[in-house]
Amino acid sequence: MHLMGEILTFETIKNNPEIQVYLEFTDRAFALTDYKDHGRGHALHAANIAEQILKCLGYSRREQELAKIAAFVHDIGNVVSKHGHDQSSAKIFLNVIGEDKYNEEIFVIASAVGCHEDKTMDPVSPIAAALVLADKTDVRHDRIRAKNFYYLDKHFRVVAACQKVDIVANKKRMNIELWIKIDTSICSVMDYFEIFMSRTNYCRRASSVLNCNFELYINEDKFL
Ligand SMILES: [Fe+2]
Ligand SMILES: [Fe+2]
Repeated sequence: MHLMGEILTFETIKNNPEIQVYLEFTDRAFALTDYKDHGRGHALHAANIAEQILKCLGYSRREQELAKIAAFVHDIGNVVSKHGHDQSSAKIFLNVIGEDKYNEEIFVIASAVGCHEDKTMDPVSPIAAALVLADKTDVRHDRIRAKNFYYLDKHFRVVAACQKVDIVANKKRMNIELWIKIDTSICSVMDYFEIFMSRTNYCRRASSVLNCNFELYINEDKFL
């Protein structure tokens, strides 16, 4: 990629042929295993949510754009392997950028991508925090491809049960609210916590990096 001194934009990354191929290939490989959508659909969804979170909290237009880019490329490393894909995504992103990578903004994106699965530490920046929140709250049931989810393991059944997911960032109250509607004929609320406890804690850590409290509502009841 040749930026030629031009500023990196989300549109440039979204339309980059290399990145498009990585997302398409990942999606095809995961489709064979009925695994959740990890392709362009998830990338675009995460990008929009990451941007919205920083926008609602009053971060600059440029910070919103960097978070949007980071969220779009965060899973491209799955093209190599699911294991360690956070770091491979960051490295592949740096490769795509090529000689233009010696730029602080590029490293802000790469470090956010590189730590997005590390639930043992706080996200390293507001951009990283927005990416974590956008990614870890993407539990939309339509990401599941299997036709009959009763044969799936508990993780997939919980995702299949999440009929509606909304994330709301509120600058006045300095909180981030996750509203989930669960179909309890598919899984119980306890199942949700059993499967998603570590990711819920991670969302809490990410919210605190943005100086916000994290609140979780399931079927209108407040749990956190
Ligand atoms: Fe990931
Ligand atoms: Fe992801």
